Amino acid sequence: NGDLPLKGRRLVITAGGTKEPIDPVRYLTNRSSGKMGYALAEAALAAGAQVTLVAATKRPYSPGIDRILAPSAKEMLAAVTEAMKTADAFIGAAAVSDYALAKPFEQKVKKISPDEHLTLDLVQNPDILKTVGQAKRPGQVVVGFAAETENLLPNAEKKLASKKADMIVANDVTAPEAGFDKDSNLVTLLQPKQAAITVGPASKLTVAKAIIDQLVTLLDKQ
Ligand code: PMT
Repeated sequence: NGDLPLKGRRLVITAGGTKEPIDPVRYLTNRSSGKMGYALAEAALAAGAQVTLVAATKRPYSPGIDRILAPSAKEMLAAVTEAMKTADAFIGAAAVSDYALAKPFEQKVKKISPDEHLTLDLVQNPDILKTVGQAKRPGQVVVGFAAETENLLPNAEKKLASKKADMIVANDVTAPEAGFDKDSNLVTLLQPKQAAITVGPASKLTVAKAIIDQLVTLLDKQ
């Protein structure tokens, strides 16, 4: 079906910056707005896919998208693991916090004295992309992102291998028209033994469509 190349396909897409609780009123997060992940969900829906969008950040979205809110990395992993049972592909556009508090405070943290330091004990979060990559069934396609501030392509190549991904979207988040909370993006699509494809600078929806086009090719090859 040329018009709807993802008809009959189920996609799981993550979006936004996770929020890791500190205490009942505070959390640790990052600069991700969710724009890139939501744009991917819209592009996948337009291509005919059944889309589950696991989002840490709230934004408007089309009614055909099944959005599940998952604020923390652990909640995101649980929702993604469940949705991947019936999915054909995964795209990890979320900025997942690498660390969470070992034990969030049960009550609001209070200041005690002016010279007191507060130390937060952070432990590593699960790596959602890596978990999905390792659990990949034959026929499933896994796409990750690499948000880098230096050595873009070498660092992204490492993630392609270490996360067992079929494609990595390398995102130089220091470029002026690219990255966190921008309406546009500039990325390079990396696949094993394939020439790199650069997309942008262009709107996040245009970049999303180019990523979905490559995903269609990858799914058709399976
Ligand atoms: O949300 P926007 O404001 O639109 O910004 C878009 C974006 C810059 C966030 C997006 O384009 C992007 O680059 N997303 C990936 C952000 C990121 O955390 O990259 P990373 O290089 O730290 O992680 C590599 C990959 O592993 C990513 O697919 C990430 O989702 C995944 N990961 C990372 C850590 C972790 N604990 N679990 C993961 O699944």
